[in-house]
Amino acid sequence: MAAAAQARAYAEADFSESNAMFVEIFRAHWGDAPASGRVLDLGCGPADIPIRIAQAFPEIRIDAVDGSESMLRCAREAVAKAGLGERINLFRRRLPDERLEMASYSGVICNSLLHHLAEPDDLWKTITRCAGLGAVVVVMDLIRPDDEAAVDRLVEAYAAEAPEVLRQDFRASLCAAYTLQEVEAQLQASGLLQLRPKRVSDRHWAVAGRLAA
Ligand SMILES: C[S@@+](CC[C@H](N)C(=O)[O-])C[C@H]1O[C@@H](n2cnc3c(N)ncnc32)[C@H](O)[C@@H]1O
Repeated sequence: MAAAAQARAYAEADFSESNAMFVEIFRAHWGDAPASGRVLDLGCGPADIPIRIAQAFPEIRIDAVDGSESMLRCAREAVAKAGLGERINLFRRRLPDERLEMASYSGVICNSLLHHLAEPDDLWKTITRCAGLGAVVVVMDLIRPDDEAAVDRLVEAYAAEAPEVLRQDFRASLCAAYTLQEVEAQLQASGLLQLRPKRVSDRHWAVAGRLAA
């Protein structure tokens, strides 16, 4: 995902359906009333989700981080185009990174990063350390299908017309993703006992809730 062409292809792809779903899951926990707060987005990619959240919640400021400079370049362009440079700060950070633990956020969000990490606990530890008491946490990712035929079906259903680089990325991501049971075990092991993964589409799980105050 680090190569410039790959990042550009990802930034230009249409993830509006799943990104809109992510924002609705966030809304269900954050609430609709104006509430100011600082939200951290881990692995923000081209920043479509932080832009949607900043547009939907005018009181929120967002720190969005990603490990890839190519992705951040796409994110900076998108944030500037949306006129949100004052409310979305973009930083280069590759998890695990101790500098991320120096702030306490009222929300921590993360879409499609977990399956990229060599050590999944790096995500859950970062969330535990960055989320303040009562923080809203929303994490979403792909569900690993049961077999190769199910992978093929999803690639054809959602990436039939996509550039080859994106088809390959989607296939690799599905194969690298975790099952709900595996995510549940990760949450138990990291002490995030109040969060449970739920299937939210034919290919996604989400973990969402407020950390106990
Ligand atoms: C599939 S993209 C998802 C991007 C974005 N969250 C979205 O929903 O569109 C995964 C992103 O995670 C980033 N990434 C991968 N490993 C990372 C790490 N260890 N720390 C920070 N970002 C990472 C990649 O650069 C990429 O932008």
